[in-house]
Amino acid sequence: MRESIFPMSTKNEVLITREQIASGVARIGQQITRDFAGQTVILVGVLKGACLFLSDLARQIDLDATFDFIAVRSYGTKKESAGEVQLIKDVTTPLEDKNVILVEDILDTGFTYNFLRKLLLARKPRTLKFAALLDKPSRRQVQVEADYVGFKIEDRFVVGYGLDYAERFRNLPDICVFSEDAGK
Ligand code: IMP
Ligand code: MG
Repeated sequence: MRESIFPMSTKNEVLITREQIASGVARIGQQITRDFAGQTVILVGVLKGACLFLSDLARQIDLDATFDFIAVRSYGTKKESAGEVQLIKDVTTPLEDKNVILVEDILDTGFTYNFLRKLLLARKPRTLKFAALLDKPSRRQVQVEADYVGFKIEDRFVVGYGLDYAERFRNLPDICVFSEDAGK
């Protein structure tokens, strides 16, 4: 186990290292650069979980790009979405006729993406794509897929690199499997 300045890391088992994250993010950046060659894109990050992914991804996209952010609240427990999603902060950029890429930390049940996809499509973007750093396909309750995926993972609750448990652990540099011990 690497030496860590984060004592809370040691209780959470590392699932995806920072080096693996960096290469997954670089791969998505190259795909987006290729798919939108010669065009501009707007990255729309879903707060708060996607903020670290968006900041790294943006630097791997060799295009004329701008950012905006959106925030939602989903009801449920600390680990489960109950399927009801509410908008709490909208984008300020007009999206009509733009290439919009929604950037999320994780695609789980699909309720959040399903909600945001309808909301953003109503703004009439030229294209709407979805980049999710993580994907838990076995958890899906709505039939949605991401266009760009960093890593497909098993049904385990993960924290770090933006992902939280009750708002904690977002600053862990690696993606870790949450341990109940660390939550105390
Ligand atoms: P969905 O609406 O169920 O697809 O879930 C999307 C949101 O649930 C993500 O943006 C996360 O905030 C949260 N989420 C789902 N799985 C995890 C996890 O394993 N760790 C942390 N947050 C998660
Ligand atoms: Mg969360």
